[in-house]
Amino acid sequence: MSKEASSAGTPANNTFTLTDNRSGKAYTLPVLKGTLGPDVVDVRKFYGETDCFTFDPGFTSTGSCESKITFIDGDQGVLLHRGYSIDELAEHSDFMEVCYLLLNGELPNRAEKYEFEHIITHHSMVHEQLTFFYRGFRRDAHPMSILCGVTGAMAAFYGDSLDITDPHQRLIASHRLIAKMPTIAAMAYKYSVGQPFVYPRNDLKYAENFLAMTFAVPSEPYHVNPVVAKAMDRLFILHADHEQNASTSTVRLAGSSGANPYACIAAGIASLWGPAHGGANEAALNMLREIGTPDKIPHYIARAKDKNDPFRLMGFGHRVYKNYDPRATVMQKTVREVFDALKVTDPLFDTALELEHIALNDPYFVDKKLCPNVDFYSGIILSAIGFPTTMFTVLFALARTVGWVAQWNEMISDPNQKIGRPRQLYTGPTERDYVEMGKR
Ligand code: SDX
Repeated sequence: MSKEASSAGTPANNTFTLTDNRSGKAYTLPVLKGTLGPDVVDVRKFYGETDCFTFDPGFTSTGSCESKITFIDGDQGVLLHRGYSIDELAEHSDFMEVCYLLLNGELPNRAEKYEFEHIITHHSMVHEQLTFFYRGFRRDAHPMSILCGVTGAMAAFYGDSLDITDPHQRLIASHRLIAKMPTIAAMAYKYSVGQPFVYPRNDLKYAENFLAMTFAVPSEPYHVNPVVAKAMDRLFILHADHEQNASTSTVRLAGSSGANPYACIAAGIASLWGPAHGGANEAALNMLREIGTPDKIPHYIARAKDKNDPFRLMGFGHRVYKNYDPRATVMQKTVREVFDALKVTDPLFDTALELEHIALNDPYFVDKKLCPNVDFYSGIILSAIGFPTTMFTVLFALARTVGWVAQWNEMISDPNQKIGRPRQLYTGPTERDYVEMGKR
């Protein structure tokens, strides 16, 4: 553990004292300070000293780990990657540079960036046998099911990068996952539309390569639209990492058992698929299509507020952001740029803007601090570029792979790392005797 968060030698005033009123006994717990964000009460010895568990389903008040990668301030709408704000990275950086930053902790110099991009470019092909996996899926299989399956299957093809105790093998696996996810994702799309797979090209940048593998066809040349490529690259930056969200926590928990990196990332993909998480971008666009025109918005706002109606405004709300998601702000700006460049409009964008305006002035949403999140506008851009809604979460997973890999590496290389094994509050039956069939 780094010195910032060490509990050793905690000054007396950096403690919490709790009294168990059942016994009158007082317990003193160390408080750990990070460089930013709330202090934490170190409860690692709490059970051993008190014979009680702490209880926090959904981890609303629990820090699961120490990390140096991403910081979020939900009240201020701040998102930092290794200290750099998402607004600055989205404006001035590119996805390969952000990948290097997340993995290594510092922005690359020119030579470092060139070498990193060269490595990723030359890992973008997949083993030719992997293509046979696709033929086992129905053509109408959701591409997330393919992404999940094929990513896990990578462990069967890259046996020289499974030993998590070997930093060199961890590095190769990290590069392979970041480099091959666009190829696997594009192949999932091609398979769903019955077109031949398109191989990666080493003369194209990361986002350009992905667009070419997705939309090029062998029968004619494909020209990457630079505005679309820039928008794609920026979307990847906006989705790259996000502290200890559900899918990242899934990757960390899977990795804590020593599972290989491909299995861990497949677990993260599975978790991201849920509509409450990364699946919300697909659900948000489907919701906007269902709403259709702005005059229907009040009906859906009423449904979202109705406790008896399971309907929620998809793309709204966040466990951490309680004023605004800085990524949604950049995303909305990118919608305008893409529409202007492609000279397209989409009435759903107008519906989305009106829905945001109405919701942000409705007491229900204001009181519950519900604001648009990263998934609210992304679908509009992706739809304008030509992706079907079923590919939206695939693109989220593609971009988040670097965040999962960076967080996985940070966990594995932590000398204090141990297997994650939460406990519970048991409220089931106490011990009872077995009942023979005839007496039931
Ligand atoms: C992502 O964690 C991350 O960082 C995730 C992510 C990342 O980059 O990894 O940012 C990506 O997953 C963004 C979130 C995408 N999901 C959605 O857009 C789905 C719709 N939103 C929700 O389901 C919800 O807001 C969550 C899951 C995002 C957050 O849920 P919380 O923090 O557990 O909050 P909650 O469900 O307890 O809701 C608090 C209250 C509830 O009302 P009460 O029970 O208090 O009366 O707000 C209500 C909820 O009913 N509420 C909503 C709502 N979201 C919450 N009501 C209507 N519409 C919504 N969208």
